Amino acid sequence: MKIITTHKMTLVFATNNQNKIKEIKTFIPKFIKILSLQDIGCFEEIEETGKTISENAFIKSSYIKNNYGYNCFSDDSGLEVDKLGGEPGVFSARYAGIPVDSDKNIDLILKKMKSIINRSAQFRTCISLITENKSQLFEGIVKGKIIDSPRGSAGFGYDSIFKPDNLNKTFAELSLKKKNEISHRGIALKKLIKYLIKLNI
Ligand code: IMP
Repeated sequence: MKIITTHKMTLVFATNNQNKIKEIKTFIPKFIKILSLQDIGCFEEIEETGKTISENAFIKSSYIKNNYGYNCFSDDSGLEVDKLGGEPGVFSARYAGIPVDSDKNIDLILKKMKSIINRSAQFRTCISLITENKSQLFEGIVKGKIIDSPRGSAGFGYDSIFKPDNLNKTFAELSLKKKNEISHRGIALKKLIKYLIKLNI
């Protein structure tokens, strides 16, 4: 029996994070089929050796294109604190060392910022998309402040110490739906999807 598919495009999302795969499938137009790294049999670790968030996103998507031939996108995110010279940035996940520990990362940021008055910071997401020979970058930034001590229990990473501008709640005090509406990842994702929809015309 012939299987009829309505998908016009297949894209690999270069991540092992099943939550991210689940999230993207709720956003992405139905004409696009999303495959995970597991789906294409990629089980090796792709080393994130970039000096910037955008470099790391590109390293992952180009690795898949070069080694597996699939059109692909990947994301990389981080927190950038102005008065810490953009730290932790590309080191956000492992700021306080390995193994990765969010509580220790938060403690380290708060310690470094103890006497700092300007608490401005931003979350940045870069999505790198590689289709055939074309490489595109989509960026999402949300500006805010680092508060003095953690607040809220939702989310992950630095959510409990980041208060976006124009809101009196930290990311960890927002529902996932509300956070996705305004977050760096949500903004970058919307740009990616707008571009993919245009491709389908
Ligand atoms: P990833 O590239 O999405 O895996 O993000 C790298 C690291 O940045 C995470 O491990 C977190 O420490 C931090 N991070 C990225 N996005 C967020 C967020 O939305 N909230 C809190 N921390 C985040």
